[in-house]
Amino acid sequence: MALMTTRMMVRNGAECLGRSAPSLRSVLRCAPSTQRATLASPGAPTPVRLGVGGAGRSMVSIRASSVTTTADTAAATSASAPFKRHERIAAIKGKDQGKSRVGDTVQLRGWVRTVRAQKDLSFIEVNDGSSLSGIQAVVNGDVPGREHLDAGDITTGAAVVIKGIVVESPGGKQAVEVAVESIKLIGGADASTFPLQKKRHTLEYLRSIAHLRPRTNTIGAVTRVRNQLAYATHTFFQQHGFQYVNTPIVTASDCEGAGEQFQVTTLINGIDGPSVASAQSNVASEADITAAKAAAAEQGVVVKTLKDAKKEGKATKEEVDEAVAELLALKAKAESLENSPAAAAAGGDIPRDAAGAVDYGKDFFGKPSYLTVSGQLNAEIYACAMRDVYTFGPTFRAENSNTSRHLAEFWMVEPELAFADLQDDMDCAEAYLKHCLTHVLEHCDEDLEFFEKNISKDNLRERLRGVATSDFARITYTEAVDHVLKAKKKFEFPVEWGCDLQSEHERYLTEEVFKNRPVIVRDYPKAVKAFYMRENDDGKTVAAMDVLVPKVGELMGGSQREERLDVLERRIEEVGLEKESYWWYLDLRRYGSVPHAGFGLGFERLVQYVTGVENIRDVIPFPRYPGSAEF
Ligand code: 4AD
Ligand code: MG
Repeated sequence: MALMTTRMMVRNGAECLGRSAPSLRSVLRCAPSTQRATLASPGAPTPVRLGVGGAGRSMVSIRASSVTTTADTAAATSASAPFKRHERIAAIKGKDQGKSRVGDTVQLRGWVRTVRAQKDLSFIEVNDGSSLSGIQAVVNGDVPGREHLDAGDITTGAAVVIKGIVVESPGGKQAVEVAVESIKLIGGADASTFPLQKKRHTLEYLRSIAHLRPRTNTIGAVTRVRNQLAYATHTFFQQHGFQYVNTPIVTASDCEGAGEQFQVTTLINGIDGPSVASAQSNVASEADITAAKAAAAEQGVVVKTLKDAKKEGKATKEEVDEAVAELLALKAKAESLENSPAAAAAGGDIPRDAAGAVDYGKDFFGKPSYLTVSGQLNAEIYACAMRDVYTFGPTFRAENSNTSRHLAEFWMVEPELAFADLQDDMDCAEAYLKHCLTHVLEHCDEDLEFFEKNISKDNLRERLRGVATSDFARITYTEAVDHVLKAKKKFEFPVEWGCDLQSEHERYLTEEVFKNRPVIVRDYPKAVKAFYMRENDDGKTVAAMDVLVPKVGELMGGSQREERLDVLERRIEEVGLEKESYWWYLDLRRYGSVPHAGFGLGFERLVQYVTGVENIRDVIPFPRYPGSAEF
C-alpha cells in the first residue's frame, strides 16, 4: 500500500516538473530566524532505536528506478552528449555562498535534513553531501508536489528533487535560499523508524549505523576532508615525478616481521559446511584423482598415435586438434582435482605432512599467505627500476589493540625514493605533510571550521597553518630518550635507552617539549626496528625515522633501506627470518643496488590529525577492529 502511494507520488512530481513555474519571488516572506538543529553534531548520548525494515529498503530501490526524467533519458540515449552530472549544492553556493546565482533556476537533488511545514510557508533544509551546509528551500503557496508536504511525507532523511529560483535570504542565517517551484519526493524515510533524528548523536552511536552516518555533519565533513587529503597525496607525489604503483594485497612475506598478519587460506573452506557427509560427496577421493590422471595419460597415447598417423597422411589435422583439446581438458581436470582445496578439507581435515605440520603445498597459493601489512617491499622493487614511486592502498594488521589510533584495516601511503638517504626521506615526509595541510586549508575551510567549533574546540586552522609554514623539529632517538627522562611528569611506561617509545612519550615530545610542533625522531636502536632498515656505523642504531604529531603520536614511520647484501643477509638471520623467502628482495642488492629510502604514513592518522577527531574508527568509512566487520 505504502509502495503504491509513493510510486504515484513520484509520477505526479515528474509531471509537475514539466509545467512552467509561477514566479514566487514577489510573494516570499521572511524566514523566521529560529535555529534549526542539524543532524548529528557530537554531544550528549541519545539512545535511538536502530531499525530500517526490509520493506523500507525495497521501497527505496523501486522508487530509485522510477526517478528517470525525460531529460535524463534523452541524455542517456544520445551517444555524443558530453558526460555531465546535475549541479551539486556546493557548486550552487560557490565561493560567495550563492549570491552571484540570485535569479537562477536550480535543481536540488539530495536528502532532507530538517523540515518545518506550515500552512503558508514551509522550510526544507536539503543537503547532498557536497558541502557541510545545505540549502534552505522555501515553499510558498500551492506549488506542484506540495501535497507531499501536506501529507507529511517530506521528512528528515527523505530523498527529494526540488526545483526553484535562487533568491536572497531575508533571514541572517544564510545568504541565499531557494524559492520552490516544484517538489518531487524520490524516496521517503519513515520518520517513526529513521535512525537519525534532528538531535545530536554520539559518534559511538553513529558507528552502529555506519550505513547512514555519512548523512551527518561530522561524517560528511570527515569524508570530504579525507577525499581532499587523498587528492593532495596524489598531486604531491605526481608533481614530484613519483610513479603510482599498486602493490599486492596478498603476500607471502611479513614486511614488518611483527607477526601481526591475517592469514589467507582456502584450507578451511567447507570445514563448517552443511555436513561432513555432503562435503565429502563434493570432494575428490584419491581414486578419482588416479582415474583422472590415467584418463589423461591414455589420451596422451591417442594424441601421439594420431600425430604419427597424420605424418603418414592417415589422419587429418582436425582429428589431431580434437584429440589435443580433449587431452588438455583431461589434464586440467586431473590437476584441479589434485589441487582442490576442498579435497584438502575433506571432512574437516586440514592436510598435514608426515611430521604433522599443515601442508601448505595444498593451500590456494601453495604456501602460507597473508594480507599485507605494508606495500614497502614491493615498492622497493619498483623504486629500484623506476626511481621514485609511491603506493597508496589498504593494509591489514591483526594486532589486538583496542585503541583510538589502531585499526585492523587501514590505508597507508608509502613513497619509496631511489638514490636517496635518510635526509632525503625526512625532507620528503615534511614536504608531503605540509602540502597536505596547505591543500585542506585551502579547500576545506567550511569543514575545518566545523571541526574547530565542534570537535577539536581549539584554534585548529591556525595550528595547521603554523605547521604548514614552519620547520619540523628533528632530533635523534638518544635525544628523545633524554627529554623523556628529564620530564617532570609521570609516564605509565618507564623509558631507558634501547626501548621503543610509547604513544605517551611521543605525545609528550611533540605536544610539550616542542609545543605542538611535529617532531622527527631518527636513529632508533636496531633491536626495536624492522630488519630492512640500514644499519648505522655505530652498529647499534639504524637509519630509521618516525614523524610524531600532537594528539596522534606516530603519524609516519620510515627509514633508509639496507642496500648492502652482506649486512642485509646478516640482519635477516639475526631477527630469525628465513633468508630463502626473501631471495627476490636480496636480489635487488645483488643487481644494481642503490641507496634508497621511504616511509609509510597511516592515512587515517593523518585524517585524525587534520580534523581533531579523537577516535580513528570515525575517520574511515567502515572501520575494522577486533570483533567488528559489520557493513
Ligand atoms: O611504522 P609502520 O609499521 O611502517 C611500515 O609499515 C613501513 N613498512 C612503512 C614504510 O617504510 N614504507 O607503519 C607506518 C604507519 C605508522 O606510522 C602509522 O601511522 C600507521 O602506519 N599505522 C597504523 N594506522 C592505523 N592502524 C594501525 N594498526 C596502524 N599501524 C601502523
Ligand atoms: Mg612504526
